[in-house]
Formats: sequence, structure tokens, C-alpha cells
Amino acid sequence: MDFLKNIFIEMWFDVAAGPALETTFNNFDALNIPETHPSRDLQDTFYIDDNTVLRTHTSPVQIRYMQNKTAPFRMVCPGKVYRSDYDVSHTPMFHQMEGLMVGENISFANLKAILTEFVNKVFGETNVRFRPHFFPFTEPSAEVDIWWEPKGKEGKWLEILGCGMVDPNVLNNLSIDSEKYIGYAFGMGIDKPDVRFVIHHDIPDSLEEYFQEAGRAGRDEKKNPVNYKVY
Ligand code: PHE
Repeated sequence: MDFLKNIFIEMWFDVAAGPALETTFNNFDALNIPETHPSRDLQDTFYIDDNTVLRTHTSPVQIRYMQNKTAPFRMVCPGKVYRSDYDVSHTPMFHQMEGLMVGENISFANLKAILTEFVNKVFGETNVRFRPHFFPFTEPSAEVDIWWEPKGKEGKWLEILGCGMVDPNVLNNLSIDSEKYIGYAFGMGIDKPDVRFVIHHDIPDSLEEYFQEAGRAGRDEKKNPVNYKVY
């Protein structure tokens, strides 16, 4: 975690934290996630009561940060997140690292540059692909894949994070002038076991078997590839 965090500290990012117990407002509403969004479902979210959840992502720290700071700023926030998933490739608690930069004249090109720099520091020089995607709190949004070619094996694209330009609705919810300020954000699941394997150069036969999604997106269509008996 420190290794990943320090890459952003070197790029002048502030480091922030937030609590594990979040209001449904910070975890969902303020992030433009409507009442009907599947991630609000009891199947996915640990509810403490109607208005309190174990945070399902680090994105509510964006909200806390923006309530307390005035733009421009850039921050990352690593931390524990919770989802009621439990199988061979999902654990109910895992870690994410979120990033947020808000200022004038910020563009998708800045987001691409920062994340490409991050990828090169973590994985070495490799190709990076920004694939269009959807998140309620960013518009446009993308998932980022890196090209990974383990020795002696066929290369493949490996999804590592979600990102996008902060949706003006999110800025407006926080009384930040979305005509003046533009933001980008990204979030990644930093204990995806396959990422650890990549870093440690010890690649399992099938990356999918070890796959824990960076974000919720895309997860739902994936079948668990391993037959797993629980005693
Ligand atoms: N919060 C998203 C998730 O958990 C990840 C994300 C963060 C995507 C910031 C875009 C911007 O799936």
C-alpha cells in the first residue's frame, strides 16, 4: 500500500482517509448513485441501518475531502472497503485506493498522463488502454487495462482500475462551481491478488482464478471459474 501511495505523493498528491462506517448519503447519493442502483442492494452492501453502511468503495472520501477543502487540490485515499461478496475470488473486505484532482483547466489528458506514469512505475513500461465505461459519478468514464505478457505465455489485457472526469452533478452537490472547476477521479482494488502476482513476477496459470475486480463494474457477468467446495 505504501509503495502505491508513495508514487502519488511524489506527484504532489495529498493523502486522505475516511471512516469505514459511512452515511448512505456519502457512499451513494452525493456520488450521483440513485436509489435504484444495483450496488445499493442488500446483496452487495452491508447496511448497519437505513442511513449507515460499511463503505462499499473509497469514493465517499472524495465527498468528505471536497466538503473540507477548496479547489484546486489533488489527493489519494487508500483504505478498506466492504461488500457482501464471498467466494474464491472475492473477499468481503478488500482495499482500494482512490484518487481525485480538481482544478481549473483539468482534462482527460491529465488523467491519462498521471495514470500512465503510475502504471509504468508499478508494472514497468507497458501499453495502457482506456476502455469506455460507466460510473454514476464520472462522465465520461473509463476502465484502464494494461498489457501483460507473462514469460512464455500469451499476452492479455488486464483490467486494473476505473476512472473518469468527475460528473458536474457531484461538484454541484458540494457547491463547487462546475463551470469553473473540472475534476478527474480514479479508483482501484489494490489487493487484487493477480496484481500482487504481477508485481512479484510469480504468475498463476490462470489469472482469472485469482481475479478480484478493481471496481464493481464488469464483475456481475463473470462466472467464478473455480469449483470450490466449502466444508
Ligand atoms: N468507486 C468505483 C468502484 O468501486 C471506482 C472508481 C472510482 C471509478 C473513481 C471511477 C472513479 O467501482
